[in-house]
Amino acid sequence: MPSIPLPKDLRINAARFLADFEALAAIGSTQDGGVNRPALSEAHLQSRVWFRERAERAGLVVSVDGAGSHFARLACGQNPERSLLLGSHLDSVPMGGRFDGALGVAAALEVLETVREAGLHLPVDLEAVDFTDEEGTLVGLLGSAALANHLQPAEIQNPRGGRQRLLDGLQRAGLSEAGLFQAGRDPASLAGYLELHIEQGPRLERKGIPVGVVTAIVGIVSYRLVFEGRANHAGTTPMDERCDAGLGAAGFMLAARQLVVQSFPECVVNVGALKLEPGAFNIVPGRAELALEFRSADQQTLDQLQQALLALAEREARAAGLSVTVVFLGRHEPAPMHPAMRQAIGRAAADLGLVTLDLPSGAGHDGQSLANLCPTGMIFIPSQAGISHSPHEFSAWHDCVNGVNLLLQAALNFNP
Ligand code: GLV
Ligand code: MN
Ligand code: MN
Repeated sequence: MPSIPLPKDLRINAARFLADFEALAAIGSTQDGGVNRPALSEAHLQSRVWFRERAERAGLVVSVDGAGSHFARLACGQNPERSLLLGSHLDSVPMGGRFDGALGVAAALEVLETVREAGLHLPVDLEAVDFTDEEGTLVGLLGSAALANHLQPAEIQNPRGGRQRLLDGLQRAGLSEAGLFQAGRDPASLAGYLELHIEQGPRLERKGIPVGVVTAIVGIVSYRLVFEGRANHAGTTPMDERCDAGLGAAGFMLAARQLVVQSFPECVVNVGALKLEPGAFNIVPGRAELALEFRSADQQTLDQLQQALLALAEREARAAGLSVTVVFLGRHEPAPMHPAMRQAIGRAAADLGLVTLDLPSGAGHDGQSLANLCPTGMIFIPSQAGISHSPHEFSAWHDCVNGVNLLLQAALNFNP
């Protein structure tokens, strides 16, 4: 008779995990090897059908909350009132990579199936979760903020992806605005949240270290800035008489970069979309709308950066003879990871013989919604060349498998 492995010796089924990972990568796949699964798009909803079917095949109990987040529960706990959540997200950025989010969801399902097969009884149940709209094509951290009860009505009225896009997505998914505010979860039901993710930066690979233990997740603020001047004939209007909204936007973009590099070296700023209107070769732009996002791991620094960037927008507008309107779109606070989770990951990594590096996350994650609710931790594995939010995102398969085994062992190590 095969002997039952001790919890410490338990390992995932790598072949099964590979099949799951590849099945997910095929949904919304793009020609260049990535995936295009923006939140609540047809492809994203298809990936959720996969989640439900896969979880049911594994004998897990599936539920969906008012924000559309999908849960699969393994009743393995002595205390069935509480569970340890493991997971990530199946939505992607437009034309994204196959690892961001999907790795963590497939890993969570594999961990639950491994525990079920081994017949382990744990202190609490395990739940795999696929959160809605982590990436922010609609709102950002939508499912996890709804679960943590800190979704703001204003974020839904004026979401960063546009109101109509959100309403269309909710309708496609059979969700409602009211439902988003009914997805709050009783914190007493959560023993913790643990997520496996790719690093999305170059630090682990450069140091040759297989595992990152996340110390904190950056705070993220987003705004829409609208510079307005006067549309006019591009051939006949003298250069010194133009009120060129595009020039204001360009001036702001260059100055914002300079500001961050010189005065906020631990922070980042990005203008990820720029729209000039009316938008023709032969019209001086009368309106420039830009999508501004900036990040810091420190709350006070984030406040200072916000003040400095908004003042800069005013200055650049004045200098170009324009007006500027500033629309606040959302803020996710920086979140330190819980020491007990970090220790559980560290102990499990030592048992598995995996060297670790403590590092902050420059990317946003659902863990920053969960961190106020329950002990939260994150495991990173190396990203090749640090590339992410791109179809060229890649992590070596052995690193992925190490990561899933570490997720399993950290979940077993965590004392709820
Ligand atoms: C999500 O991946 C983000 O950091 O924007
Ligand atoms: Mn992600
Ligand atoms: Mn992402």
